[in-house]
Amino acid sequence: MVSRVIPVDPFDLVIFGGTGDLARRKILPGLYRRFMAGQMPETARIVGAARSELDDDGYRKMVREAIEEVMPADRRDAEALDAFLDRLSYVPIDASGKGGWKALAKAMRKDVIRAFYFSVGPSLFGALAERLYEHKIAGPLSRIVVEKPFGRDLESAKALNMTLAQHFHESQIYRIDHYLGKETVQNLMAVRFGNVLFEPLWNSQFVDHIQITVAETVGVGGRGAYYDRAGAMRDMVQNHLMQLLCLIAMEPPSRFTPDAVRDEKLKVIRALDTIGPEDIVRGQYVAGPETAAYTEDAENEQSLTESFIALKIGVSNWRWAGTPFYLRTGKRLRTRASEIAIVFKDAPHSIFGEEAGRHRNILSIRLQPNEGITLGVTIKEPGPGGMRLVDVPLDMTFADALGPEGEDVPDAYERLIMDVIRGNQTLFMRGDEVEAAWSWTDPIIAAWERRSDRPHPYEPGSTGPEEAQILLHRAGRRWREIKE
Ligand code: BG6
Repeated sequence: MVSRVIPVDPFDLVIFGGTGDLARRKILPGLYRRFMAGQMPETARIVGAARSELDDDGYRKMVREAIEEVMPADRRDAEALDAFLDRLSYVPIDASGKGGWKALAKAMRKDVIRAFYFSVGPSLFGALAERLYEHKIAGPLSRIVVEKPFGRDLESAKALNMTLAQHFHESQIYRIDHYLGKETVQNLMAVRFGNVLFEPLWNSQFVDHIQITVAETVGVGGRGAYYDRAGAMRDMVQNHLMQLLCLIAMEPPSRFTPDAVRDEKLKVIRALDTIGPEDIVRGQYVAGPETAAYTEDAENEQSLTESFIALKIGVSNWRWAGTPFYLRTGKRLRTRASEIAIVFKDAPHSIFGEEAGRHRNILSIRLQPNEGITLGVTIKEPGPGGMRLVDVPLDMTFADALGPEGEDVPDAYERLIMDVIRGNQTLFMRGDEVEAAWSWTDPIIAAWERRSDRPHPYEPGSTGPEEAQILLHRAGRRWREIKE
């Protein structure tokens, strides 16, 4: 299979926070991969902008080291790396002051797309928007990309939206949720809306329940200060898991266009039930033989912040009434594995009798690792001995099904940045969507803060606190095993 790479139009991309962790780990390596793939035109330019006093060569050296650190040698091409670095320049800048803005204005070219990536804390979004406007660096055709966290509650998200709206139209604002750029997440839409097979079954008549799991092995060490103010609810559920839920639950949009898709996602968020304390389990990891406890990573002995959350939620509409969605995510769990599982109902009557056992179709969409889709199908166990049934997977692991291209799935960031340049907002969150998500999250967080709820301790390397299992056992269900 030969992939078709269509080069984007010439652009100037300014990365504020261009020396930061996200720029070094994701944004710049992603751009380099797109460059190698032939998607970046010869005339594309990338400008790093940050506080550090670097010159162009110093910045190129830093970016070279960053790329060499995150990309294996056999995936790099020395010549292409030199050519890519030639496209880079650097401007030292004071985001909220005067320094550097004139130099930045001078570095920008006329008649190319201008995009500004705000890879900085949200407290600087307003200042950056203001300066870009004041120095006439951004115009009506420019785009800005903003990173999460987009606020920490409804009020702050509204304030951020208003700040950005003073200088940018909604069609210029790209709020990144990198989960929407993951290959399998997009495939979820292709599977749902590109096949006739699933859609008739995609409702509460046939689906027993849905599980969304995003399990990580890492702890919060290194970013404890941020995380302790956020917790799993704000860091993962309000955005990434919520977006996954929306893509599963939404009605088919009339077209695959930004507003048609986002309108449907918004309806899902607005249909989410409010949930009570009995439907949420919060956990916090304790110390392991070689790993520190959450409280130590967060440098807060008394912390009540959750590093794990599991919850049950309903979507009150005709399609989903009666089918619960179970969401769970956590740090320091047994394996790094993310999966969406659509668990279908039992056949209405088993003609094979009790001894054939209970079997269910499960459609599993694996986000990472080993991206792919598996459909569990019940068949007869081979051999003599009567009608014994067994579940086998119809497996479409991308790496197997698509050959080398399936293995080399582009990273979420590189796809999303190219979408910014193409001017396609489909995979970015709209302001009203983000606000609706906070409207749902706020009362839940407020309730546990009011009660000073203490998260349940769990062992590192486990699947989270026992109470999370009970959440499903109560309804006669069980979580799927977390495995790679
Ligand atoms: C980020 C969260 O948005 O997503 C992190 O802030 C989390 O806490 C990360 O580790 C997970 O992303 P991925 O792509 O590794 O699943």
